[in-house]
Amino acid sequence: MKRDYPNLCKPLQIGRLTLRNRMCSAPLGATDIDAQGTPGPRTLGFYEARAKGGAAIVTVSELVVHPETDGSQMLHLSLKVPGQLGAFAYVADAIKRHGAVASIELSHSGQYAGTYMVDKKGKGELHQYGPSDGVRPDGIPVKALTKEQIDSIVAAYAQAAGLAKRAGFQMCMVHAGHGWLINQFLSPYFNHRDDEYGGSLENRVRFAREVLTAVRAEVGPGFPIELRMSGSELFDGGYDLDEGVRIAQALEDLVDIIHVSAGSYQFGFSVTHPSMFRDHGCNVYLAREIKKHVSKPVATLGGLSDPQQMEDIIANGDADLVAMGRALLADPNLPNKVMANQGDHIVRCMRCFACMAERPVTQTRRCAINPRIGRELEGLDITPAACKRRVLVVGGGIAGMVAARTAAMRGHDVTLCEAGPELGGILRTEQALPFKQDMYRLGRTYEVLCRDAGVHICLNTPVDAAFAEAFDADACIVAVGSEPMSMPVPVSDDARVVNVENIYLEGAKVTEDVAIVGGGLTGCECALLMAGKGKKVHLIEMREGLAIDANIRHRPILLKEIEEAGIDVRLNAAAVSVSAEGVTVKQDGAERLVPGTTVVCAIGQRSRRDAVEQLRDAAPFVRVVGDAVRPSTILNATYEAFHAAMDI
Ligand SMILES: Cc1cc2nc3c(=O)[nH]c(=O)nc-3n(C[C@H](O)[C@H](O)[C@H](O)COP(=O)(O)O)c2cc1C
Repeated sequence: MKRDYPNLCKPLQIGRLTLRNRMCSAPLGATDIDAQGTPGPRTLGFYEARAKGGAAIVTVSELVVHPETDGSQMLHLSLKVPGQLGAFAYVADAIKRHGAVASIELSHSGQYAGTYMVDKKGKGELHQYGPSDGVRPDGIPVKALTKEQIDSIVAAYAQAAGLAKRAGFQMCMVHAGHGWLINQFLSPYFNHRDDEYGGSLENRVRFAREVLTAVRAEVGPGFPIELRMSGSELFDGGYDLDEGVRIAQALEDLVDIIHVSAGSYQFGFSVTHPSMFRDHGCNVYLAREIKKHVSKPVATLGGLSDPQQMEDIIANGDADLVAMGRALLADPNLPNKVMANQGDHIVRCMRCFACMAERPVTQTRRCAINPRIGRELEGLDITPAACKRRVLVVGGGIAGMVAARTAAMRGHDVTLCEAGPELGGILRTEQALPFKQDMYRLGRTYEVLCRDAGVHICLNTPVDAAFAEAFDADACIVAVGSEPMSMPVPVSDDARVVNVENIYLEGAKVTEDVAIVGGGLTGCECALLMAGKGKKVHLIEMREGLAIDANIRHRPILLKEIEEAGIDVRLNAAAVSVSAEGVTVKQDGAERLVPGTTVVCAIGQRSRRDAVEQLRDAAPFVRVVGDAVRPSTILNATYEAFHAAMDI
């Protein structure tokens, strides 16, 4: 067959291993790990999904090599406890049986041990070790590692690699990036040692060389070692790309793949994990430059999910491999779809950070648009229904489309009715926001997926009780969504008030001075859009913080964007009335005017309850899903919709 993405689909030989294509699964921490660091069955399912989905390498992360001086990240793997090997062997098997190469990441977090612990008090009882004495930004003291400790850590890397090989892993990744221990040694910012491990570049790479040499000695030839490094630390005082090139050159003789990531978790999370405000592939330039100066294969990553972009990266020689983290949570089948010329079927990551935000909160993994992530054991496959039913799905937003497609894939006869002229629901509004194009695309992709699954799509078709009665479905999924709430305070006749939908979908005119009422996610995003168009923006929120509804990973990034955009933020300010001059708010017990010749109402959504009530008796099986239950996240909408369809 002729492949749409021939370079991405080309195998690559690494020593004795043949990678089946150029698409790799970047290390992604699992969650079903017991207190001693043993992976449980859900962890197995988590990694197996990406092997089954066609990735060339699936890297299990992060194996804590030296719990004595680290071991304090929550939920990290360890091979230190006798009897654990079998659990690792099952994980390696689960990857290999689908034709992927099983790799494991060897890691030590150094002075950042415990950063992500849920029990913040427990952090203070840990020992934090790094290259040099110091104090972390959170006030926790860091002790410099002694030579004996360094030797012990080096030996531990080798031992872990040896055990991983015994468990059946076919290669390993040594984590020397993102601000963890090896990176701390490489970095002039963290490393102030005056012995043979500090000072010159030759000295700063010594620890990495010792680790890699010891690992090689333990695993022998023919067991590839992938070095994960940051091409540049990308913060003041850290090493830059020039030095990143020299680090890669200084280590390349000891490794088989140089995997070039970027930045440091602690000083630029949104660079290391490019946020929706950054370009896709914004870190590729680092790999491109390093590749010019080394002879080993180079991998790149960071916000990649567009098959054409990844094809071009390989075709242009910017890198030999692409790795993906979040994109393979959103759609573990991405590599299979690329191989099958189904680029338009890929459900692309929106970079919303639900995946990263969930673990600190519930100790599980989730993906906003993949209801099976973290729940792989409950079944990866959409199983055929025992009996074919006539299914009516009401509402063509994301919940309705997920439900319709899932039910159709199960063999049901599915009709999806949408009252408006287009599918997509609330996602259609995202087309106005430059940083939410992936979210907008999600609606378009699901339309393709619904049609492909054989869903009968009826646009401009509102459904009421009489329609449903006549339709005579066996099952009805009610996904009628929500509508914007209107301004809850008096509005003078001459005031110009619009809501975000009017602006995004109808192109409502917004004057140069804008007051936005409501500083939740929607209000913040609208403020950024307006500021980007050069308008003076005032953002009014009655609570004490903006975007309280945003997840804990996305929120700080969004708030930084708001700050940098120069938006006038008014917190603890409750709107009292709206006039042609702006919004009168009550703040600190006094009333004051926040100027704005256009006032945008962004106070939230309300479920379409009337429509829901009409359909309570629409069929023997009725399920209400998504915003129609309560305005919430895409994560909840897709999860409810998927399972409603699985229940029919
Ligand atoms: C949910 C999640 C868990 C991650 N866990 C790890 C990890 O354990 N070790 C690691 O080196 N990187 C980890 N990363 C970082 C990814 O490997 C990758 O570098 C990052 O997500 C950027 O790639 P992406 O834009 O394709 O997601 C994780 C990322 C995510 C989203």
